[in-house]
Amino acid sequence: MTRDDGARWDRSGPVRLVDSDLGGPVVELQARGGRAVVALQGAQVLSYVPTGGRDVLWLSPVARLGTGKAVRGGIPVCWPWFGPHPSDRAMPAHGLVRAVPWRVIDRAASETDVRVRLGWPTIEGSTGQSGSHLRLHLDVKLGDALTLELVTTNDGPAPVAITQALHTYVAVGDIGSTEIGDLDACDYIDQLDAGAMKRQCGPVRFDGEIDRIYLGSPPVITIRDGSSPRRIVVAATGSASTVVWNPWIEKAARLGDVGADGYRRFVCVETANAGTDVRTLAPGATHALSATLRCDIR
Ligand code: BG6
Repeated sequence: MTRDDGARWDRSGPVRLVDSDLGGPVVELQARGGRAVVALQGAQVLSYVPTGGRDVLWLSPVARLGTGKAVRGGIPVCWPWFGPHPSDRAMPAHGLVRAVPWRVIDRAASETDVRVRLGWPTIEGSTGQSGSHLRLHLDVKLGDALTLELVTTNDGPAPVAITQALHTYVAVGDIGSTEIGDLDACDYIDQLDAGAMKRQCGPVRFDGEIDRIYLGSPPVITIRDGSSPRRIVVAATGSASTVVWNPWIEKAARLGDVGADGYRRFVCVETANAGTDVRTLAPGATHALSATLRCDIR
């Protein structure tokens, strides 16, 4: 790996730092297996196009970087809490790192894959628990698949509890013909029904707003998009919960950045530590949450 400090960026290399037309700097990764774009803002992957295929990720048609607001789409990083802050409702939803610039720490390329590591320094008190000192980095590796690994280290003297998610907006041709089969018989927290616990029966299908935290979810989840033969697979490690979300018509209209009929074009399948899947890091401990996206039929 090459240290970023002082190292020159090769403008034509497989890992390039460029100013994007979205209004901010992005890292472009190019490998035999595809192309990916990662914004420094929020260390957010914005695009992943496997060679010979279409973008696996949905991005808002009005996405702009540098507005102080999180961009909708791609893979936002929710950290060190998922959803509302556990005790302070004045804190932003989904944590602290989505709308702020991260730093490139390392980058590397080999014959088979290219990687970039983005870092966020230790944050004192970042979880709202006084005395917590957390360090965070995200590795993005592009080869035949795209892998994100979000690594948290507790540099402080006391244990710290975190929740988090790699909030993947998977692009689909039509949400009405999209299906997720692997969650059959999983228990979930229904966020649209005051957190009631329910059990999934059969595949997850979409005909209205869905906002669920599946607990004890399997490590591999396949998204079948009935409008095309394409199948997208999300494989997780360090996670025992998966969030499935689609805002449907009214919530999408309230969000304002989804675009006309945009809700039909994505489903969020979020590799998470959420709900009861809270991770407590002892002093000096590290936790890694990873998601690998693969398009097994393009
Ligand atoms: C999902 C949550 O992860 O993210 C939803 O489960 C939430 O409740 C959605 O509405 C989008 O959040 P935001 O902050 O990006 O609008």
